[in-house]
Amino acid sequence: MTLARISTDEYEDFRRFLEDACGILLGADKHYLVQSRLGRVVSEAGLASLGELVGRLRRERSGGALREQVVEAMTTNETFWFRDRHPFRIFSEQILPGYVERKQRSLRVWSAACSTGQEPYSISMTTQDYLAANPGRAIDVQIVATDISPAVLAEAEAGYYDAMAVSRGLPEDIRSRYFEKDQAHWEERWQVCVEIRRRVRFTRGNLLADYAALGRFDVIFCRNVLIYFSSQSKKDIIRRMADILNPGGYLFLGASEAITQYSDAFEMLRCNPGVVYRKK
Ligand SMILES: C[S@@+](CC[C@H](N)C(=O)[O-])C[C@H]1O[C@@H](n2cnc3c(N)ncnc32)[C@H](O)[C@@H]1O
Repeated sequence: MTLARISTDEYEDFRRFLEDACGILLGADKHYLVQSRLGRVVSEAGLASLGELVGRLRRERSGGALREQVVEAMTTNETFWFRDRHPFRIFSEQILPGYVERKQRSLRVWSAACSTGQEPYSISMTTQDYLAANPGRAIDVQIVATDISPAVLAEAEAGYYDAMAVSRGLPEDIRSRYFEKDQAHWEERWQVCVEIRRRVRFTRGNLLADYAALGRFDVIFCRNVLIYFSSQSKKDIIRRMADILNPGGYLFLGASEAITQYSDAFEMLRCNPGVVYRKK
């Protein structure tokens, strides 16, 4: 079924629901997106309109199955290995050596909105390369990776990627070092090797919710998700991330994202190329 007609009120109600549920702020003219992504969810739930869907969602407790399906359908999970390159280079050439020189024994990294795992695994591979290239230097890097979507987290945790996913952004030498071909599977697929996976712990997390249970961090990657949020949500998220970053800790954003207008808790470091924010 398609959601052929959406009234102005239904659309506004749905926009409000989505922003309250996950922070995503739909533009005023994204009717086609709602139609294309939710038609199936609406018909499978036996509902007749977007208005009925919002009514049901408002009655369902948070964490209910329909809510999850809707958030799942409306989020964008696009990701790939070593996305934008610079954050991983800065992590390996500046951040890791800095902590090692200051004799910090362990480093906690948060990959917030990790999608299917390419970002946290890229951080783990960068760490592995750094440790291999600097044998006298030891640092225990622990990566906590969160996302609102249980489906992408399950994929991430399993660590299997098909030929298409594995080809996106991944240099050949890294694939041969850190992936194992799954010989038993009918289709070509690869799994991230255990030494890379064991550094990463995946757990469900909504960026709008409290971060206290995650603990404190030295580095946060929060990339290509805040672009979907309102200025107010961005400001609130950045403030709460600053609260759980250790002094001098680092925050990476996506290439098209900036925080200067949302927070004065950070200084911007231009690494030419690339930018990282350091907590003052
Ligand atoms: C475009 S992907 C970005 C993945 C990765 N950070 C990267 O840059 O390649 C955005 C991810 O944000 C997640 N997301 C959206 N809203 C969220 C929220 N409120 N809390 C946590 N994750 C959210 C989506 O499920 C999706 O996996």
